[in-house]
Amino acid sequence: MYSDKVMDHFNNPRNVGEIAGADGVGQVGNPSCGDIMKIFIKVDDNRITDCKFKTFGCGAAIATSSMVTEMVRDKTVEEAMNISNRAVAEALDGLPPVKMHCSNLAADALHAAIEDYRHRSKAEA
Ligand code: FES
Repeated sequence: MYSDKVMDHFNNPRNVGEIAGADGVGQVGNPSCGDIMKIFIKVDDNRITDCKFKTFGCGAAIATSSMVTEMVRDKTVEEAMNISNRAVAEALDGLPPVKMHCSNLAADALHAAIEDYRHRSKAEA
């Protein structure tokens, strides 16, 4: 049912935890299941240098957020903003259709963290 990549990221999730002094934090809830995802980013010179996640989500949510934290590293903020839930699912060699909604958590929380970063940058300017 799950690809080897999904199982790998589920069994050995990358970048779990919080970033102290993060430049952006995004938290979203999944309306389909009520699960929650929090993503922390560190930004340097418009590039994401670190990204960590914490989730009260299912296995697919863990795998997609683990994958997203690897995909965004060294990307510009604009590039990271363009990462879609579909791109994350594709990077994992697909998710079962019934689990596609779980991938929204990772992408939405990432985008929320970037919005938070942009908001803070404006406040500082
Ligand atoms: Fe809630 Fe997957 S069932 S995130």
